[in-house]
Amino acid sequence: MRSILILNGPNLNLLGTRQPEVYGDETLEMVQQKCLDYGAQRGVEIAFEQSNHEGVLLDHIHAAKGVHDGIVLNAGAYTHTSIALMDALFSVELPAVEVHLSNIHAREEFRHTSYISRAVVGQICGFGSHGYLMAIGALIACASV
Ligand code: DQA
Repeated sequence: MRSILILNGPNLNLLGTRQPEVYGDETLEMVQQKCLDYGAQRGVEIAFEQSNHEGVLLDHIHAAKGVHDGIVLNAGAYTHTSIALMDALFSVELPAVEVHLSNIHAREEFRHTSYISRAVVGQICGFGSHGYLMAIGALIACASV
């Protein structure tokens, strides 16, 4: 069965209580369940991970090679700082989609830059948790996952 890794970065474990006016009131567990259901309906296995640590996120990306067929990544604030995560995505050569709950381009200037964007098929932002489902759909439709 085809398999997609959904990887979440720092502070996303706090979803539901963290700035709900920006990120919504769903918890990460609720988002995970939506992704599992959406994947099951499409015959795709979903693995769902979160870490607040850049190195752990790197390890997850490295371990995805040969195990998963695509990656959905919300790298949180590491999006705007991490050349290491960008390099890891390039290294594993898996199709990836970048997701953000909020529209990062409508927010502070420092959120407009994404190192992740250079290494992914495309970016989805501003649609809340629905963006994760859009990203799964995009991997299936556009990246043969
Ligand atoms: C985020 C946007 C980032 O700028 C921020 O640091 C996050 C969440 C989003 O999903 O909208 O932690 O990735």
